[in-house]
This record gives sequence, structure tokens and C-alpha cells, in this order.
Amino acid sequence: MTTPRAQWGSRLGFILAASGSAVGLGNIWKFPYITGENGGGLFVLIYLVCIALIGLPIMMAEIFIGRESQCSPVGAFRSLSKRGSPWILSGWLGVATGLFILSFYAVVAGWSMHYIVLSLANSFDGKSPDDINAMFGDVASSASINVGWHLAFMAITIAIVIGGIKTGIERAARILMPLLFVMLIAMLIRATTTSGFPRAFNFVFGFHNEDLTATGVLEALGHAFFTLSLGMGAMITYGSYLKRNDDLVGVSLAVSVLDTLVALLACLVLFPIVFTHDMEPGSGPGLVFQSMPIAFSQMAGGGIWATIFFVLLFFAALTSAISLLEVVASYFIDERNWPRWTAAVVCGGFIALLGVPSALANGGAALFSSDMAAGPIGKDWMTMLDDLTSQWMLPLGGLFIAMFVAWRVGGAAREKGFKNGTRFSAMYGGWVFLLRYLVPIGVLAVFLNKIGVFAKLGWM
Ligand code: TRP
Repeated sequence: MTTPRAQWGSRLGFILAASGSAVGLGNIWKFPYITGENGGGLFVLIYLVCIALIGLPIMMAEIFIGRESQCSPVGAFRSLSKRGSPWILSGWLGVATGLFILSFYAVVAGWSMHYIVLSLANSFDGKSPDDINAMFGDVASSASINVGWHLAFMAITIAIVIGGIKTGIERAARILMPLLFVMLIAMLIRATTTSGFPRAFNFVFGFHNEDLTATGVLEALGHAFFTLSLGMGAMITYGSYLKRNDDLVGVSLAVSVLDTLVALLACLVLFPIVFTHDMEPGSGPGLVFQSMPIAFSQMAGGGIWATIFFVLLFFAALTSAISLLEVVASYFIDERNWPRWTAAVVCGGFIALLGVPSALANGGAALFSSDMAAGPIGKDWMTMLDDLTSQWMLPLGGLFIAMFVAWRVGGAAREKGFKNGTRFSAMYGGWVFLLRYLVPIGVLAVFLNKIGVFAKLGWM
């Protein structure tokens, strides 16, 4: 590479941008609703174990690959292995995963934009919880609302990715991530005063339902990847803008802890509303768009608070979407020498098109919603892409990344790289152990279980 590579303005800038990637709809929209669907406590515990023992080591592995190679995923795998080596496939798998994820992610982000408009118009004021629940159904099934906001969201994402690393991504994350955190804390304080809080707390942290299924375990694992932005090279790409002596262990710890905190906070804000108003915790993807407006509808100045909340949700989604597009675009920038703006526009445009079926998947067009759910696939288009990416492609990508660092990268280089600039050198042995054994065995076991191998053997 001839031109000097772009870099983060500071280590804090990296932490904020990486947590901007990690903290997103996954934390505030997806985690609460899948926790609700899987019955709470036990699912949360399995998720936390997955974060600590599988997610964290893989995050360090991704940042390691990026920081050492100073390249985006495909180039990184190439430069750290041999030419023509099959490891490069995992770089491509990542690019494909990014395309798929962003295509449906932008649709949900579009809902947050629509809810900003609804909040500004004070649409929740004086409405009953039932009205507000029904409102979400109307939004989700409207073709024009979904396609329109989806395209608008993609246009904004593309514009920021054109802006580049320091000016675009880092600046946005620096201001908005802390704000989101403060807002959630304020909402939490309010939630503790509601009658549903004790039940909600027990739902999230207590053990009560023992009927978590194998699918639930795979969902927890898949979500650990999704929420930390792992398994497709997003952290490789962000890590590639770090300096070689930046502390990769410290930043991984900071990002994982922050991300987990936001997800748990979101649950502690949403579920009290759910239980106070006798709603169904397992009601699915509409959860955040139904419960939060109900809380706002009963607050003085609710329209303003609702607006602030959905603006922050939108920005959380945006900083994540940027990282998804950045992975795809940086492949064309680094490997094909495309100018940044061409790569952003072409890749983003393609993703926008690919997202149209997702925009129609919640009732907008029967073909992608009810018909599909009734057909052999058994789910609508958006759910299909979500499950395919989080439950299969990300864990598979993560497995490759772990095995690459654990078995392919030379021991001396790995040890030197890990310990470079970190206070946590003592964790080296544990890290390699987890990458070598626990991650592959864990991910494979969950896959095998999901395709029914253990059941056939009579083990479960
Ligand atoms: N982590 C983000 C969220 O929770 C989504 C995301 C952004 C992502 N970049 C990613 C997921 C890369 C997987 C891979 O909303």
C-alpha cells in the first residue's frame, strides 16, 4: 500500500467508534425481544457466558488481525497467510454477511426514523396501550413507510461512509454514544418507580423457565456475535485503523463491557413497561416500538422524551450500520482500488436494493411475509436473513477467525502482538486456550445440536 493508512484520532476515539459499532439495534431492539421470546433469566445467563468466553476472545482475535495486518478482512487474511490460501474465503464470507445484515438492519433503523416523526407529532399522547401496540402493526405492514425510510437510512449511511474514518465515523460516535447511555440511565431511574419493575427484574435475572430450547442456545450464541459486531470482520476493519502498539485487550474489554451494559439496561427499561401494562414479553420485533411509546404516552412532556429516545436509537443504529457498510466498501477500496465514494455508493446502493424484500416482510407484501412464512422456509424474509446471518454465518466466521489466530498465526508473532502495549499480558495463555479449544468446540456443538445430530444419537 502506498498511501498512508487512515487512523483513529485517539484510542478513546477507537473505543467510542468500536462501541458505536457494537451498540446498536442489537442491544436495544433485538436483545430485549429475543430475551422475551426465550423466557428471560436462563437465556440471559447463557448469553453472558457466550459474551465472556466466546465473544471477548474473538473480539481480541479480530482486533489482533486488523491491527497486525493494517488491512481490511480479505487483505488481512491474505497478508497474514499465504497467497491463494483458503483463509481468504473467511474474508469474503464476512463481506457477504455484511451485505445481508445491513439489508434488513436498515429497515429496522427506518422504523426508528418513522418513530421520530411520530414522536415529533406527539402521536402517542393520550393513546391507550392497545392503540400504541396497533400503531406498530400499521407501521410495519406499510410498504411505502418501510421502503421509504429504508432508502433514506441507506442514503445517510452511504454519505457518512464517504466522509471517511476520522471526520465521519469517529465524530458522530464521540458525541452520540455517551448521550444514549445517559438517556437509558434516566429511563431506568424512572422504570424503578413503576409497579412492573420487580417482575421485570426477576424476569431478566431470575431463573424460572426451564424450557429454553436448543434453538434458544444457538440464538444466545448468535446474538453474542451480532451484538459485539463479531464474525464478519467489522472489528478487523476497525482494528486496522489502530496503531500497532495500541492495547487490544483493554479496548476489547471496554467495548464488550459497555455493550453488555447497554443491552441489560435496555431490558431493565423495557420490561417494567411490559409488565406494568400486562403486555406479552414474547411479542416479537415490535417490543421496543410498543413499550417505549406507552411509557412516553404517560409522561409529562412525553412527546419530547420520545423524540430524544428515537433520535438516539436512530444514531445507535447509524453508527452500527456505518461499520457494516465500511466492511463491504473497504474491500473494494483496499483490494480493488476503488475510490472511497464509488465503493460506498455502489455497495450501499446494492444493499439498499437487497433490503427491499425485508422492507416488505412484515406485511408490506404477502410474497415476503405471510406467504413466505407459510411456505417451506417457515419465516418471513427479514427473519430468514436475520436467523441465517446471526445463527449461522457470524458464528461460522467467528470460528474461522478464532482458528486462524489460534492455529495459523505463528506463536511468537501472536504472543508479541497480544502483549504489545497491554497491561493484561497475563491473559495471553487463557486467550489462546479459549480460541483453540472452547470456541471451536462450543460453536460446533451448537451447530451440530441445531441440525439435530445429538438428538439422532439419542444424547438429548
Ligand atoms: N452490533 C450491532 C448491533 O448490535 C450490529 C452490527 C454492526 C454488526 N456491525 C456488525 C453485527 C458487524 C455483526 C457484525 O446492533
